[in-house]
Amino acid sequence: MCGIIGYCGPKKTASILIEGLKRLEYRGYDSAGICIAGQGQFRIIKSKGKIKNLQNQLPDGLSGNYGIGHTRWATHGGVTDNNAHPHTDCAGKIAIAHNGIIENFEALKNILTHEGHKFQSETDSEVIAHLIEKYYKGNLEKAVKEAISLIKGTYGLVCMHVDEPGLIVGARNGSPLVMGIGENEMFLASDVTAIIAHTKQVVYIEDKEVVCITQNEFRTTDLNNREIEKEVEQVSWELQEIEKSGFSHFMEKEIFEQPESIKRAIIGRIVPELATAKLGGLNLSTNQLLNVERIKIIAAGTSFHAGLVAAYLLESIARLPCVAELASEVRYRNPIIERNSLYFAVSQSGETADTLYAMRELQRKGAIVLGICNVVGSSIARESNGGVYIHSGPEIAVASTKAFTSQISVFYLLCLLLSRMKDMSLETGSSFLENLQTIPINVGKILESRQKIKQLSKKYCHYKDFLFLGRGINYPVALEGALKLKEISYIHAEGYSAAEIKHGPIALINENTPSIVLVPDDRLREKIISNIKEIKARNGKVIALCVEGDEEIKKIADDTIEVPKVQEIFYPYVMIVPLQLFAYYSALELGRDVDQPRNLAKSVTVE
Ligand code: G6P
Repeated sequence: MCGIIGYCGPKKTASILIEGLKRLEYRGYDSAGICIAGQGQFRIIKSKGKIKNLQNQLPDGLSGNYGIGHTRWATHGGVTDNNAHPHTDCAGKIAIAHNGIIENFEALKNILTHEGHKFQSETDSEVIAHLIEKYYKGNLEKAVKEAISLIKGTYGLVCMHVDEPGLIVGARNGSPLVMGIGENEMFLASDVTAIIAHTKQVVYIEDKEVVCITQNEFRTTDLNNREIEKEVEQVSWELQEIEKSGFSHFMEKEIFEQPESIKRAIIGRIVPELATAKLGGLNLSTNQLLNVERIKIIAAGTSFHAGLVAAYLLESIARLPCVAELASEVRYRNPIIERNSLYFAVSQSGETADTLYAMRELQRKGAIVLGICNVVGSSIARESNGGVYIHSGPEIAVASTKAFTSQISVFYLLCLLLSRMKDMSLETGSSFLENLQTIPINVGKILESRQKIKQLSKKYCHYKDFLFLGRGINYPVALEGALKLKEISYIHAEGYSAAEIKHGPIALINENTPSIVLVPDDRLREKIISNIKEIKARNGKVIALCVEGDEEIKKIADDTIEVPKVQEIFYPYVMIVPLQLFAYYSALELGRDVDQPRNLAKSVTVE
């Protein structure tokens, strides 16, 4: 989604802003712009499309020592140069860049228009510039506070005034904003990736806080002008983690990082001698955990699919009723908080608006909500009642891959912890742990067999429709495999329980609709074989993911991708990785923009 960068310092501001915007590209955007301030005037350059379009328009000798930049993901108003940020007031003295949505912008725009303000864009954001203009009496910070007190909605905001050189004012409500403290320079950004090349010292701005930065100073206050002491935190990510390191795409890099990222999610959290896990961040005593009667997981997108795997796992192994639900649905359902329920909000970014708002709604009703997040210091991580970081390292590609396998890793640990508190024996616990610890090696083996998957992608990527079929704990993996394919290759793909095809989807089967069928050697294998035969009887093509050496499947499927044999409940790991690769190579073959697929955003901070 939209990205923000602001800079005050001695370096070439345009370069810093452009570099920051490039680092924010992964969030998804459709236009970009910068405003450079210097010598008593603003220079604004905006362009729809990629940042290189913007770069091509930069005039030579664009100097100035402070400025703001923005990548826009259109919500109000089409994708045009005019609707790109930064926006200005009527006099062109105030420049703003805004993430989020102003819900009452129409009412505000009507009033402002009536008062004589002239709007230049169709965006909701432009009202902020005009509101600041209306209240400006020589003090930008004060005018910003007056303006935002009238706004209903969400904002991560940066703004400047020509008459207050060297000052950028930022404000946050619902859309992330982080300040970076460099040597003799200051930054504001929607995301640390935009500034990590320059500093790792950051301050997270909270909702309803306003921050003023100049080259060497910052000050944070609340809306009532009370000063707020902020903690300066150290970002643990390294710059190379947000670079491609020799891979063609971030998605490829992230898929190949999985043996390591899975290890990182597990490492330090297992107690081999007791065959259990320790998850200190849950902030719950043994007694509290023993009292848990049911678990509910809320999430969106890929994180939701990880939640569905977890629900199956916790119910079948930890014997706790568990459901995963779409956060967007939970929020508006007036959810009932049952006694002794434990909630988990799962989110790679920790900023997904649907998940964040659903979490807040549950908390308002008295629920304990724990976060399973990747991004340290993200909104969900900070506002949850405890939780576990998945430690995947930055995930830049829009399509989530390594976060999925790390999220489920945390749930495997949780499952072990809860099971061992109840009736799982030491032996069974030890075997569970041993099996879990073989996963990184087994995932590594799949990565080695990428050539075969690449060939199959080439063979099948020109089909227009796919079915992804799985059962039990692998049913959500089928959903995730279909999601990956549609996200980055734009091929229509549907995930189903293999058992469900007879209730409708089988009508779609013909020689033009291949099915990708997950066939682990588990108790449902024979039933899935029957499903494959049903597909074959209708001339459907079948690509089966089966266990190494499964000759029976090789005979009935058109093509197979072999996966290592693992214990039944661990198949989601070895089944999802080939599907991620299949989607990646298909998208590559079709010439798609793998890391930034059309219309999608990495972190969806609007509802
Ligand atoms: C967006 C992304 C998906 C992601 C989903 C949830 O739709 O494009 O890749 O799975 O948001 O994101 P989260 O950060 O909450 O896991």
